Amino acid sequence: MSTTGVAIIGAGPAGLLLGHLLCQSGIACTIVERQSRDHVLSRIRAGVLETVTTDLLTRLGIDRRMRKEGLVEAGFNLASGDRLIRIDIAALTGRHVTVYGQTELTRDLVEAAPERGLEIIFDAANLAIHDVESASPSVSFEKDGAVTCIGARFIAGCDGFHGPSRGVVRPSAAREYVREYPFGWLGILADVPPCHDELIYANGERGFALASMRSRTRSRYYVQVSLSDRLEEWSEDRLWDELEARFDGLSKHGVARGPALEMSIAPLRSYVCETMRRGRLFLAGDAAHIVPPTGAKGLNLAASDVAYLWQAFASYFASGDESGLDAYEATALARVWKAERFSWSLTNLMHSFPGESPFERRMRNAELDYLAGSRAMQTAIAENYVGLPL
Ligand code: APR
Ligand code: PHB
Repeated sequence: MSTTGVAIIGAGPAGLLLGHLLCQSGIACTIVERQSRDHVLSRIRAGVLETVTTDLLTRLGIDRRMRKEGLVEAGFNLASGDRLIRIDIAALTGRHVTVYGQTELTRDLVEAAPERGLEIIFDAANLAIHDVESASPSVSFEKDGAVTCIGARFIAGCDGFHGPSRGVVRPSAAREYVREYPFGWLGILADVPPCHDELIYANGERGFALASMRSRTRSRYYVQVSLSDRLEEWSEDRLWDELEARFDGLSKHGVARGPALEMSIAPLRSYVCETMRRGRLFLAGDAAHIVPPTGAKGLNLAASDVAYLWQAFASYFASGDESGLDAYEATALARVWKAERFSWSLTNLMHSFPGESPFERRMRNAELDYLAGSRAMQTAIAENYVGLPL
């Protein structure tokens, strides 16, 4: 059995960021990932980064491509029917967000690993977690037909919503909170110029739609779909027709069509497992909480969890001080719940709910109308969108 300081399960943004931060602090760690390197590098996810996240990349010195290719956005738009409400985040908060795909960020972190001595073991099957309540926990897995076991001082469960870590924490916890939304998002990625210079989150008669981007030549769009909708029912033409109907009247440049690089449907969920620790196993990122994508908080929350956990590990390995580790759950949750609230409230504000009454629709329209004329409400939205401080 080999040994390390921290065994990290999962090479998503949480595991990769934590691995690099620990490595930079001279703390031995190994990342164990179920999927192949190619699979990890090809996943399409959101792409709006808060400064909490970009600051971590800068601290790591893995920000060169992000600074060059990322789009610094000073505002975004909420649309109600055919009215565009611009949230001027730069003027309201003095800050900005960076549009840079999670796919690109993941690539930067994976490619920087070898030169920094960060070990990532891909294609690790049947991972199991052992003895988390003892002083010497471990993980075992199968790779190339052999079983490998890594002993560690701590285990970081960065294995997403479907990974095994939360199942290990759960028996000690009844503190789980969930909200499933009665709709999903159908997304398309295409190499066409975005229809607008900044993101548009639109609510209309036909439900929610989002015009986003990856660059000035690559667009990402979503429309609200019913949970029973299947991808096969949506041809590319049908989706472009829908997007044109939603955005042609709202956007500066109009919707440009092109072949889909990717199309997929994802359900929307809010979820928090308040127990983020069992013994020497700590959860971070999607392993502990899910937000609906409205507001793009998922990756940024993973980054803030990791910032707290890394600092806690750093104090422990420097001086044996466990107070940061003991405080991790409460510290992380304080920020998690605020981001959950924001994502939930923006989801409620911008979507049509099946079966909602005309009164409820009027309430949403009134809230958007109020927002259009209220600097106070725009400021509240802007400061959540750019990200609450650590
Ligand atoms: N063994 C090893 N690795 C595993 C296992 C397992 N049994 N189960 C899951 N994993 C890996 C997944 O393959 C994935 O690479 O854990 C990783 C978890 O990554 P994410 O799901 O991306 O979660 P996280 O790193 O917390 O990132 C949160 O990024 O992926 C988005 O939607 C997510 O925006 C959110 C943010
Ligand atoms: C995206 O570009 O994929 C994106 C942007 C903003 C969101 C969600 C997704 O809120």
